[in-house]
Amino acid sequence: MINDRRPDDMVRITNAELADAFIEEQVAAMKEQIGDKKVLLALSGGVDSSVVAALLIKAIGQQLVCVHVNHGLLRKGEPEQVIEVFKNQMKANLVYVDATDRFLDKLAGVTDPETKRKIIGGEFIEVFAEEARKLDGIEFLAQGTIWPDILESENGIKAHHNAGGLPEDMDFELVEPVKILFKDEIRIVGERLGLPANMVYRQPFPGPGLGVRCPGAITRDRLEAVRESDAILREEFAAAGLEGKVWQYFTVVPDFKSTGIKDGNRAFEWCVIIRAVNTTDAMTAEVEDIPFDLMKKLVSRITSEVKGVNRVLYDFTPKPTGTIEME
Ligand code: XMP
Repeated sequence: MINDRRPDDMVRITNAELADAFIEEQVAAMKEQIGDKKVLLALSGGVDSSVVAALLIKAIGQQLVCVHVNHGLLRKGEPEQVIEVFKNQMKANLVYVDATDRFLDKLAGVTDPETKRKIIGGEFIEVFAEEARKLDGIEFLAQGTIWPDILESENGIKAHHNAGGLPEDMDFELVEPVKILFKDEIRIVGERLGLPANMVYRQPFPGPGLGVRCPGAITRDRLEAVRESDAILREEFAAAGLEGKVWQYFTVVPDFKSTGIKDGNRAFEWCVIIRAVNTTDAMTAEVEDIPFDLMKKLVSRITSEVKGVNRVLYDFTPKPTGTIEME
């Protein structure tokens, strides 16, 4: 087994050579740990799980089974990208589960933010465990644990998501190939493994996904407005060269309507709130100074392209007092 802890004298991975050396060493270590056994991985499409998948595909190929659970709260194009990159390009053994209806039915009418998070987290584990039970001969569970996760759990800041809270009878040995890496190192390793830049350098995205950006009880139409407005925001930020520069940016559609005019008629519709912030550790955050011309373009596109929206607002609140997410 490779290092369980990050050695004090480990050189920070900052270039292709160091990343390649890490990949080679890790692939050999995983081959030795896993042998001819099978490994299960919950593949969200986020940086950490994607890099773990790519490393394992390199090490053990078809012995890896990736499960991608679409909880219906992913951003536009995300499940499609996971399928394209891992199934079509990397030829991974990928199980795709569209559990949208299951999640949205459970969430129907639920307004409390923490209850929503609990339902999404609990249902995720249930769906994943159900898929795991359908598979024979799995002995290992791969996880995208990273070095800050370990440090934070040791310091009591947050619980380390070890084994993802799976039922106790599912007793897998863990494979955690990026456990000693910092986020910036994982991105370089991901690039060297051939993952697309927009996957490797993507902004943070919360586990409960768009569910916390559709405040109050989630409805399918409002969720669609969040997804479509978020896609326009990401597209315009990329076109303006802000992708990878602004730390996190997204849209929120509160359960609130206001009067407007569309095509000469009264339109009583939702508003889209844009949030764009910069931070280093997410404990505090500053609002991005979006160029006014870009803002005008966003307003024009969102109000004309997103169904049920007649108004766009910008959240100018730093953290504190506002948290980054609105829920
Ligand atoms: P807040 O809203 O607390 O967000 O200022 C700080 C960072 O954490 C992300 N976030 C979450 N991530 N599950 C996650 O995996 C969650 O429930 C959750 N809530 C917030 C948020 O997107 C931001 O990057």
